[in-house]
Amino acid sequence: MKKNVLILSGSPRKGGNSDLLCDQFLKGAQESGNQVEKIFLRSKKAAPCNACYYCKNGGQCAIKDDMAEILDKMQAADVIVMASPVYFYSIDAQMKAVIDRSVARWTNIPNKEFYYIMTAAEDSADVMDCTLECFRGFARCLNGSKEMGVIYGKGVYEAGAIQGMPAMREAYEMGRQV
Ligand SMILES: Cc1cc2nc3c(=O)[nH]c(=O)nc-3n(C[C@H](O)[C@H](O)[C@H](O)COP(=O)(O)O)c2cc1C
Repeated sequence: MKKNVLILSGSPRKGGNSDLLCDQFLKGAQESGNQVEKIFLRSKKAAPCNACYYCKNGGQCAIKDDMAEILDKMQAADVIVMASPVYFYSIDAQMKAVIDRSVARWTNIPNKEFYYIMTAAEDSADVMDCTLECFRGFARCLNGSKEMGVIYGKGVYEAGAIQGMPAMREAYEMGRQV
């Protein structure tokens, strides 16, 4: 069945390691006939949540930026791919803003299949535990979320260092099997 796949590429580095893994996932998912869109979060405006709870009345956020469009696409997706570099053992600010701003409509993002992509300078999957928990915590808040796969891009510091590494193939194959 053809799926609607939304990739949220959280790194501020376009062409950085997690963004390259997103592109591999995208390529695989497109080649197997799915409808795929990647949003490079840094190119969008998504301010942090102000916790004003204006959204309590109908799910509209008081902050007028690109977040409404991102939430529309999250709601419409069957599959959501979330990608972030490890930043001080957590996710980066771009991804965190999107997660927090989803408070406006988080009850309306049910039954999504989730994939997670992470990159880190250190060459160990353990350093990604906290980053992964950030993604999982978000998905846990949404009804009917299913975790489908995780890509660990470890041991990569400079942008592009992931080229030629097994994670690139893994991301492509994961995309193909969406
Ligand atoms: C602010 C900042 C914090 C970072 N914190 C960590 C860290 O805690 N552990 C780690 O292994 N790498 C850390 N890194 C390195 C990045 O995770 C690594 O360069 C990664 O490949 C970046 O992915 P990207 O190319 O997709 O942006 C940090 C980099 C930055 C800029």
